[in-house]
This record gives sequence, C-alpha cells and structure tokens, in this order.
Amino acid sequence: MHARDSTCASSGVDPRRHLVSRHGRLAGEGLCSTLMSLGDWAPLAVTLAASLPVVVFLFRKLFKREELPEAFPADGVFNLEILSRFDGVKNPICMAVCGKVIDVSSSDNIKHGEGYGKLWAGKDATFSLATLSLKEEDANKLDFTLKDFTEEQHKALAGWYKHFTTKYAIVGQLKEYEGWDWTSVEEEAKHQKPFASANAAAEGDESGPAKAAAEAKQGSSQKPEAGVVLAKGNKVVVSGLDEAQKELEGATGVLQNYSPDKGGFEVLMDSTGEVAVFKPSQLSKP
Ligand code: HEM
Repeated sequence: MHARDSTCASSGVDPRRHLVSRHGRLAGEGLCSTLMSLGDWAPLAVTLAASLPVVVFLFRKLFKREELPEAFPADGVFNLEILSRFDGVKNPICMAVCGKVIDVSSSDNIKHGEGYGKLWAGKDATFSLATLSLKEEDANKLDFTLKDFTEEQHKALAGWYKHFTTKYAIVGQLKEYEGWDWTSVEEEAKHQKPFASANAAAEGDESGPAKAAAEAKQGSSQKPEAGVVLAKGNKVVVSGLDEAQKELEGATGVLQNYSPDKGGFEVLMDSTGEVAVFKPSQLSKP
C-alpha cells in the first residue's frame, strides 16, 4: 500500500519523476518557487494576475476613443455628413430645421430607429415639416426654395420652427443652407404658439402645428394633414380609403404608433380587433 502511494504502480518509480523536465526541474516548480519568493505578496499577485483581463476590458471600454460621444463642432457649423453622426446611437439626437441644428435628445417622440427618429434623426427635416411629409425620401431634401412653398406650407414650417427652437437647444447651423434667408419663417413664427399649445387657435394663431393641436383638443374634425392633431390612444375614424381597404370605410379604432416601415399610422380596429395601417390623411376624430 505504501509503495502504491509513493511509486508508480507499473514501474515502481517515484511518480513525481515522470514530471521532471529535461532541465531537471519539476513542472510548476518555477511558478511555485516564484510565488514562494513573493512571500506574503503571493495572494495579491495571484488576484491581480487573475483580474488583469477584466481590468484591461474595462479600461478599453472606458477609454476607447471611438466609443466616446463626439463633441458638437466647435464653430457650430455642421454639414449633412457631420449631422448624420448625431443620430442618437453614441451621440445625441439632432435634426435640422431651417438651417438650424437642434438637439432633440430630450424628446419622448424622437428616438433612434423608431417613428419620427427613424425619419429625421441626424437629418434635415425642413422640407418634410413644411410639406407635412412623413416620407423617408423627403428627409435631407435640399432641392427646394422657400418660394416653392404655398402659404399653408410656409405657415406649417414656421409652426414647426417655433416648436423646435423654443422646446430644444439650438446647437449649430447647417452649412448646406449657408446664405439662405429665413426671415419670413422667423417672422411668421413669432405669431405662432409652440406645438401643443391648446389655446393657440382660440388666441388667434391660425396656422401650423399649434392650430392643429388646439383643434384636436377642441374636437375639431380637421384632417391630420394640417399637423399633429391626434395622440396615441385617441379614438379615430378612417375615411377616404382606397379599394384594398374599402370595407373599413367609416370604421373606428384606436390610434397606436406611426410605423415608417409600413408607411403609415397603425390603428387597432374596433370591429376586427386587428391592426391596420392608414395614411395621416385617412384619420380623423369621430
Ligand atoms: C395622423 C397624423 C399624425 C398623428 C396622429 C401624429 C401623432 C403624434 C403624436 C401623438 C405625437 C406625440 C405628441 C406628444 O407626445 O406631445 C407626435 C409628435 C410629433 N409629430 Fe406627429 N402625428 C401626425 C402627423 C405628423 C406629421 C404630418 C408631422 C410632420 C411632417 C409630424 C411631426 C411630429 C413631430 C416632429 C413630433 C415630435 C415633436 C417633439 O417631440 O418635439 N406628425 N405626433
């Protein structure tokens, strides 16, 4: 029994000798002797060695340059390429209106990759807001002039300009609009109440998102083309449907979210219990 404990069962040789290296040292002897020579520091050294990968990982994560949020341009001048990086992924969410770059990070409605954020995060929304367009191809559209807009579109743009410049911080200008004269929009905006000011219409503000929001609150049947008139959870009636949805004409439902993928607003229909998608112009208050 003793022999089995201390010698190799088959050869009768001390089993530790199998571990002796060509250099005549026991495997692990080097490490052991190093640790032993560290004396009381050995546990600390082992702990440090074991945690090294974690420390390196954390260090990289904290100090990796490309993962730090980018600063706004020091001179305040963005161009579309710079603006595209401010899309809410690692940088704040910004969008541009009338040549001004606005930090809309505090908005509950403009989030990266969803709804309005999917359309306008890191983009210029001037043309879209004037024409009340939720089409992706109208974001960053620059081949227009202010003279192209109808009176109504000019008013709508002024309403949105007022909304964005009063609710959020202006963080720069967009180079592509250098030399544009926005005086007419700025002047018209002075007579507008910011979006969602329910008393705006009553107080004589006759245009843009403020009017639309006010009318919504007062139960007007105005169509949503005029701006933001309905809220999630509102009862809506659908009308002006094309052949494919004709059977839903006049039906009611509850407004859910805007879905850029489906190209419209989702409505949970009372009659079918299913979600159907409609254009803004097809929705109104019952
Ligand atoms: C049926 C049509 C529409 C509906 C039901 C609708 C609904 C809404 C709702 C519920 C909000 C959130 C409001 C809040 O939380 O206070 C919102 C925000 C917004 N809507 Fe619409 N909308 C419509 C059309 C449009 C159009 C045509 C535009 C412009 C082209 C637009 C631009 C915006 C913007 C920019 C915001 C974000 C405002 C912010 O957070 O500062 N909407 N909309």
